[in-house]
Amino acid sequence: MPAAAAHASSLRLASTAAAATLLLLVLLGWSETATAHPFHRPLSGPLRNLKTSQAVLEVAQHAQKKELEEDTNVRLLPRVSSNQDHLKICCLHANILDFYLNNILHHRDDAHPSMHRLKTDLHRISEDLQSYGCNVTHYHDHRHAVEFRRKLEKMEGERGLNKAVGEIDILFTYLQDHCVQPTPTPAPAL
Ligand SMILES: *[C@@H]1O[C@H](CO)[C@@H](O)[C@H](O)[C@H]1NC(C)=O
Repeated sequence: MPAAAAHASSLRLASTAAAATLLLLVLLGWSETATAHPFHRPLSGPLRNLKTSQAVLEVAQHAQKKELEEDTNVRLLPRVSSNQDHLKICCLHANILDFYLNNILHHRDDAHPSMHRLKTDLHRISEDLQSYGCNVTHYHDHRHAVEFRRKLEKMEGERGLNKAVGEIDILFTYLQDHCVQPTPTPAPAL
C-alpha cells in the first residue's frame, strides 16, 4: 500500500475508534461530568459552578487585602490530610460552613458585591450536604471544628471575621475536593 493511502486508512481507523469511544462515554452518561472532574460527581451543584467559584475568590481576595501584616501567617482553618475518609472530611467542613453562614458571613453583608450570590450558593450547598446525610451537629465537637472556633475567638471581632472571610476559598476547595459521590464504579478499559 502506498504511504499516503496507508496514512489515510490509519487516520480513518483512528477517527472510527475515537467516535466509538465517544459514543461509549455518552452511553455511559459521562458526557456532562467528564468535562469538570472525570469520575467525581459533586454532592451539590454550586460546588462545580464557575460563577460560585468566582464569587468565592473575589470575596476571599477582597478580605485578604484588608488583612493586617501580622496576620498573614495565621491560619484559622485546620489543615486536613486527604487520606482520611472523604465523606467525614466533607461533613466536618459542612459543619464549619454552617458556622460561617450563621456567625461570620451575616456580619459581612455589604463587604463585597459578590457576597449576596456567595451566601445564596453556600446556603444551597449547606442544605444539599445536610440532606445528603451530613449531621452538622455531630461534628460540632470534632477537634478541627473546635480548634477553628478557638483561633477565631482569639483573634477577636473584625480581625477574626476578616481573616475567616479571607479563608473562604480554602473552605470551598475542601468542600469541592471531598463532597463528592462515592464512586464504586471502576473505569472501563477503553
Ligand atoms: C446528629 O448528631 C448528634 C450529636 O452526635 C446526635 O445527637 C443526633 O442524634 C444526630 N442526628 C441524626 C439525625 O443522626
